[in-house]
Amino acid sequence: MAMKLGLIGCGKMATALVKGAIQAGVVNPSEVVATSRSQASRDAFAAETGAKTSDLAGVLATSEVILLCPKPQDIPAALEQIRSVPQSGEGALIISIAAGVTAKTMEDGLPDQFRVIRSVPNTPSLVGCGAAAYCLGADATEDDAALAQRLLGAVGVALRVPEKLINAVTGVSGSGPAYVYLLIEALADGGVKAGLSRADAIQLSAQTFLGAATMVLETGEHPAVLKDKVASPAGTTIAALASLEKNGARSAMIQAVEAVVQRANELGGK
Ligand SMILES: NC(=O)c1ccc[n+]([C@@H]2O[C@H](COP(=O)([O-])OP(=O)(O)OC[C@H]3O[C@@H](n4cnc5c(N)ncnc54)[C@H](OP(=O)(O)O)[C@@H]3O)[C@@H](O)[C@H]2O)c1
Repeated sequence: MAMKLGLIGCGKMATALVKGAIQAGVVNPSEVVATSRSQASRDAFAAETGAKTSDLAGVLATSEVILLCPKPQDIPAALEQIRSVPQSGEGALIISIAAGVTAKTMEDGLPDQFRVIRSVPNTPSLVGCGAAAYCLGADATEDDAALAQRLLGAVGVALRVPEKLINAVTGVSGSGPAYVYLLIEALADGGVKAGLSRADAIQLSAQTFLGAATMVLETGEHPAVLKDKVASPAGTTIAALASLEKNGARSAMIQAVEAVVQRANELGGK
């Protein structure tokens, strides 16, 4: 079943989500209409996706579901612009992807007939391998949740969580790609130190992350079980694991997530 999808803001993340949804057959380009501040980004979005573009009133008039995709600091202005457009009918479902903007902030800033879902996508959505979560605002329905699930699930994994866990999601999967890039680079650095070329080391490191992640997801085994299977007694891998433990690798990751949650709370996105 196709959905009439609107976009307010059609930058990088919006383009990734819509391209994925089109590829998955969840939306049809002829039923997508997008707006943004500048004509240039509207044109780029249309060229990339085959979708239509319009002014804000056009998006609001024709869309059942609207992805709200400006940067967090631009959300207040976007909400004000929505309020300034005369509304008729029952209003749309607004799915926000803006980090740290609460469902209540959006509900308070929107006319009453809109329902709200707040989501946290991540950038691997660009390659169809996203990890997202979403929570329902006060008036969103089970049908709305199903729509969000289909849309976000078109570009990867999508989980429904209570809003109090949204910052935890940001700490794990929203910001997580950055930590993994750092780890891929660090593992490659180790390879270079041991004599590999940079290109070979990066390829081997990235493929190892991909392979290990695929093992976790496809076998359903606990990561600790998979880890134990590759650590033979008095072998090389257990020596590396002991070194990682000594250097606080596990604690460093836990503290990274805690740092995101703390920072997100400071930014007002509780
Ligand atoms: N969790 C994650 O990993 C993750 C990753 C990426 C993004 N995000 C979230 O995704 C959102 C978008 O990020 P992005 O990287 O895609 O940003 P981006 O490429 O800069 O795109 C933002 C878009 O919003 C448009 N815009 C800004 N104010 C607007 C307004 N008042 N009305 C209509 N359009 C408006 C911009 O238009 P112009 O280009 O014409 O100015 C642009 O098309 C952010 O809120 C961010 O928090 C989350």
